[in-house]
Order: sequence, then C-alpha cells, then structure tokens
Amino acid sequence: MRIDLVSIFPDYFAALDLSLMGKAREAGLVDVAVHDLRKWTEDRHRTVDDTPYGGGAGMVMRPDVWGRALDEVLDHPLPAADEGGAPPRRVLAVPTAAGVPLTQRMAEDLTGADQIVVACGRYEGIDQRVTDHYRSREYEVVEYSIGDYVLNGGEVAALVLVEAVVRLLDGVVGNPASVVEESHSAEGLLEHPAYTKPRSWRGLEVPGVLLSGNHRRIQDWRRDRSLVRTAHRRPDMLDRLDPNGLDVHDREILAGAGQVVRPRRARIRIRLARPDEAAAVATLAARTFPAACPPHLPRQAVEDFISENLTEEVFAQLLAEPRDNRILLVHEDLPGATEPIGYTFTALGGAHAMPTEMVRPGKIEMGAAYLSKCYVDEDWRGSGIAGALLERAVADVATRGRNSQVVLGTNVGNGRAIRFYRRHGFKVVSRRKFIVGGVVNLDEVLVRNITATQR
Ligand code: ADE
Repeated sequence: MRIDLVSIFPDYFAALDLSLMGKAREAGLVDVAVHDLRKWTEDRHRTVDDTPYGGGAGMVMRPDVWGRALDEVLDHPLPAADEGGAPPRRVLAVPTAAGVPLTQRMAEDLTGADQIVVACGRYEGIDQRVTDHYRSREYEVVEYSIGDYVLNGGEVAALVLVEAVVRLLDGVVGNPASVVEESHSAEGLLEHPAYTKPRSWRGLEVPGVLLSGNHRRIQDWRRDRSLVRTAHRRPDMLDRLDPNGLDVHDREILAGAGQVVRPRRARIRIRLARPDEAAAVATLAARTFPAACPPHLPRQAVEDFISENLTEEVFAQLLAEPRDNRILLVHEDLPGATEPIGYTFTALGGAHAMPTEMVRPGKIEMGAAYLSKCYVDEDWRGSGIAGALLERAVADVATRGRNSQVVLGTNVGNGRAIRFYRRHGFKVVSRRKFIVGGVVNLDEVLVRNITATQR
C-alpha cells in the first residue's frame, strides 16, 4: 500500500518512523511519502490560504495550491492492482471535524486501497471545490472526523487514520488474534478489561476467574465484562448488535448494567423501594401475581389472595421496616417514570422471615433469607430484567451479611420459573404447601447458598 501525506507541517509525521509503523515501512508492507504543501505554491510568500468568501473568521486553504499538489500525488505510478490489470484503487482522505466518523469498518475497508492520499487542512479547512473536483473525477473521496471535538488541523487525524489502517495489513501486528479480539471488531462490543502481573497490586486483586485455568469460564467472564462495559460506556453500540446473537444470559447481564435490548431498547434502573411507594408496589404485585398461578386455580382464590396479601397496607408495613424487609424495584429510566415494571421482596428476618417449617437440616438452615416475591410485567418477558433483578436481590442479601442462604418457593407446575431459578444457581431441595385464597397448592422449594466471594 502507498500512503501520501500532504501538509504544511510535514514534521508532524516523524512519528511514523516509530514502533510498528516503522517496522511495517522497513518490511516494505507500506510505502509512506510525506509532502510539504508549500512545494506547490507559486508566490514569494508561499501562500496556501486566503480570506473566506462571504466573510467570517479565519482563513481557507486555496484550491489552486491543493489542486496542483493532489494532481501530482494522485498520479504517482502504482503497480497494477491485480493480474487483470484493474485500475488501482486510489482514495483521497480529508480529515475534518465536519466529516463522517472514522470507524473500524472504514479502516478495514481502506486496507483494500492501493493508495491513500491524506490532505491535511489547517485554519478553517480547504476550499470545498477541492473534494468536489476529485469526486467528480471519479476518485474515492472521504471526508472523515476522528471525534466530536475540534483540532487545529488534520495532521493528528491523519496519523490516526494511517495507524488504524496499517496495523490491519497482513504481517504488521505479530499476533493476528489480537486484531480480531479487540474493541470494535466484528462482534460489536468493547473489549473486556485486561490484567497482568503482579497478582496483587496496592490491595487490588486480579479477578480470581482469570487464575482458574478454566478457559470456558474465562471466556464467559470476559464476554460478560465486554457486555457490561459496552452498556455503561457505549450503549449506542447495542443498537447495532444482532439481537439474535444475545442469549438470555447476555440479556440479563445487560439489564444488570441498565440496558435492555428486547422487546425494545430501553434503559432501566433497579433500586430499593422508598417508603412512599407502597401503592405502586401493590398495583404491580396485583397485576403480576396471576401469571404465576396454575391455570386450574379458581379466579376467586387468586383475587382473595391479592386482596389479603398484596395490598398497599401490607407493602407499607414492609417498607416501614427496611432492616428486615428488602423491596427492590425496576423502573424504566425515563424522566417521570413512576410505575415500576418489576420487583422483588426479600425478608432477611422479622415477621415475614422464612417460615420455620421450611427448615431442612443440612439443606435449609434457620435464618435463611426468604425471597418471597420476584415478578416482572409480562410486557418485559425475555428482556433479562427478571434475572438482573434476582441477582441484585441476592447481592443485596450478601451485602447485608446476615444470611448465608436465599430460599424461595414456586408452584411445582411453573416449569419456566423453576428453570429460571436453577439457571441462577438455586437447587430444588424440598416441597411445601402454599395456600392461595383457601386453595392448597404445592410448591417446589429452592435454595441458593451465598458464597464467600459474593459477600
Ligand atoms: N480537523 C479538526 N478537527 C478534526 C477532527 N475532529 N477530526 C478530523 N479532522 C479534524
């Protein structure tokens, strides 16, 4: 590949002799030529700019000087592009804050060029007729920006383009895998964080999973960290992901980082309920409870249960004792969103603690936290919110440090819920009777131990 850089500050490009770029040049993988634009001036003062037509601040670079320069540089002889003698692919790249954003896709595409000429403007830029002219002469012209900020000129942006393209050429980066796995590569996620020796530094430890030698677990952990980073730092990138490439675990991780991609892209927030939110919780509880009941349960029984147990008064009582009763709410993160879309209620102790008859020595101990409720509106099925909420509820128990297990019951016929809890590390250990409006139902009882690392 041939690269020509045209600028009034050619010294900027000394950096291209360094490091990988220098090696790529030495190895003949890329032929870089730097040109001083003033070579093509014709007056005593070597003028390259003039005042703008129409007035305004600053100076504009003259098209006649640029035209002479680019005619010559774009005419540089190149080896025939391929055996059929197809004309070489010559690209004129013009850095400008008003350009299209430079992306990894563009850099990948430019690896196929035979020549890239970068025309570095200064001042208020280059007369518009220059790019118009070369575009009309069937050159590929790209006016690009390296970010939403303004530089004094295009030289730094030219270095950025050259480095982004040249490192992708075969043989430039020693280990081709490192080009594949990095941020902005095909998968469309930011790269996971990286760690090296020493294992412990200023009291900060390398995450244990990276020392486990279990490659599957390491890969899974890294993907989760990529998802979380992308959700926090570049949620816009999630719009470009193929939603079918995200499994339920991925969606739960994203929801835990506040981003939902299904059924539509939304931001969510999980937080503790406030004491004044009893009515909102009761409304949500009444709305979501019926879907967890077996179909044969009489409607009246379901309604009786709701009017006895899922009232504003009941939730107001729970919220009045936040030491024992933990209610987490999920809201869409929109200004003014007051209606929650999901909730959990966990009793760490007190009047609503796990009933003693649920104790099974060796399996379920006295003093286990009791996850009494975990519900999400049906509209948000498959969003990952329920999994994120459940994990947050378990983490909340772990942080409080009072309980070493979380226990819950769910109807034996609710296979979907049972699979969900098992996927989250709960194990079925026994059964219990659960009375809904006077009708006896059978529940599976599941338990999850809170591990030391979670605490
Ligand atoms: N010239 C001035 N600002 C620029 C930017 N952000 N990107 C590319 N070229 C520029």
